[in-house]
Amino acid sequence: MAEWTYLCRFDEIPDGRGVAIEAAGARLAVVRSGETVAVLFDRCPHAGGSLGSGWIEEGAVVCPLHRWRFRLRDGRCLDMPGQSANVVESRVESGEVRARI
Ligand code: FES
Repeated sequence: MAEWTYLCRFDEIPDGRGVAIEAAGARLAVVRSGETVAVLFDRCPHAGGSLGSGWIEEGAVVCPLHRWRFRLRDGRCLDMPGQSANVVESRVESGEVRARI
């Protein structure tokens, strides 16, 4: 089973926004909504936009290119049925964001 890989500190993620991070050979979007953090692969399934450069609206991350919205809890696209972003299992512990990549 994959190990918990350190990504960044929780307080490095602006509330309502995301950051793009390279870790363990993967490019990831770490996004924050209040006290909740979600980690997704940083590649929108539509045309490859950076979800880490997006923003949060009502529990979803918005892709900055064409504004498709992806639910943080499961990556499901709210605008295009059948589309989804890949969510990575993550946790925050002692102010550190980690993910199983
Ligand atoms: S690339 Fe993300 S919505 Fe088009």
